[in-house]
Amino acid sequence: MERVKTGVPGLDEIMMGGIPKSHQTLITGTSGTGKTMFCCQYIYNGVKKFNDNAVYLSFEEPADSIAENAKSFGWDFKPLEKSGKFSFIRYDPYHIEDVFDILESTIRQVKATRVVVDSVSALGLHIKDEAELRRMIFNLSVILRKLGCTSMLVSEILPGTNSLSRYGVEEFVTDSVVVLYYERLQSTFSRAIQIWKIRGSAHSQKLHPYKIDSNGITVYPKEEAFIKR
Ligand SMILES: Nc1ncnc2c1ncn2[C@@H]1O[C@H](COP(=O)(O)OP(=O)(O)O)[C@@H](O)[C@H]1O
Ligand SMILES: [Mg+2]
Repeated sequence: MERVKTGVPGLDEIMMGGIPKSHQTLITGTSGTGKTMFCCQYIYNGVKKFNDNAVYLSFEEPADSIAENAKSFGWDFKPLEKSGKFSFIRYDPYHIEDVFDILESTIRQVKATRVVVDSVSALGLHIKDEAELRRMIFNLSVILRKLGCTSMLVSEILPGTNSLSRYGVEEFVTDSVVVLYYERLQSTFSRAIQIWKIRGSAHSQKLHPYKIDSNGITVYPKEEAFIKR
């Protein structure tokens, strides 16, 4: 199985070398767990260090705000966009049904092999009918699979729920699931990451601590996290 390195220190180690190539990975967690940051790190490293081209589709924050935050971690997307190796997708919320056509044509144009959709939950802001929304999430996965992209789909879950995703379909259409926790143990909140599944591969079964600082996300593959679940 060919692996794609995330470039997140420690993470590739608990995923046995990285994400299987062409897999779709669900990044799930409550708000503030670092999902957007994780996706930026994955994309930036991909283009800068691993010579992949990439596309970022955001249904949440505007591209400019993502780019500005990323810059504070030293990840400057502007030159990557200029070089044609990377593209943020700006979609029209009034023609949301066209977004996957735009996604497909942008991926082809950029020749992207890494793709982020952040978040599929926020698609629900535009698509009110849940059956329609589920169908769209499924279609999204069909397109990414057809194009062979190694993709991250973000799902934002509500605090206090035990489900892996917002709409209950995201974890079925994806090959792998990574869960980010931000939980309280007594008076301290701590961060932990878990590889829930990787289709066709072994992976760490443990809950590992991770930190967020000025370098972005770092996972501690040798340590175990203890959080209240
Ligand atoms: N420079 C930094 N140092 C430490 N933590 C940071 C820094 N910048 C952001 N964070 C943390 O990252 C979180 C935001 O991550 P983000 O990727 O936007 O989360 P999500 O997309 O899961 O909602 C913030 O809530 C904050 O706790
Ligand atoms: Mg986010």
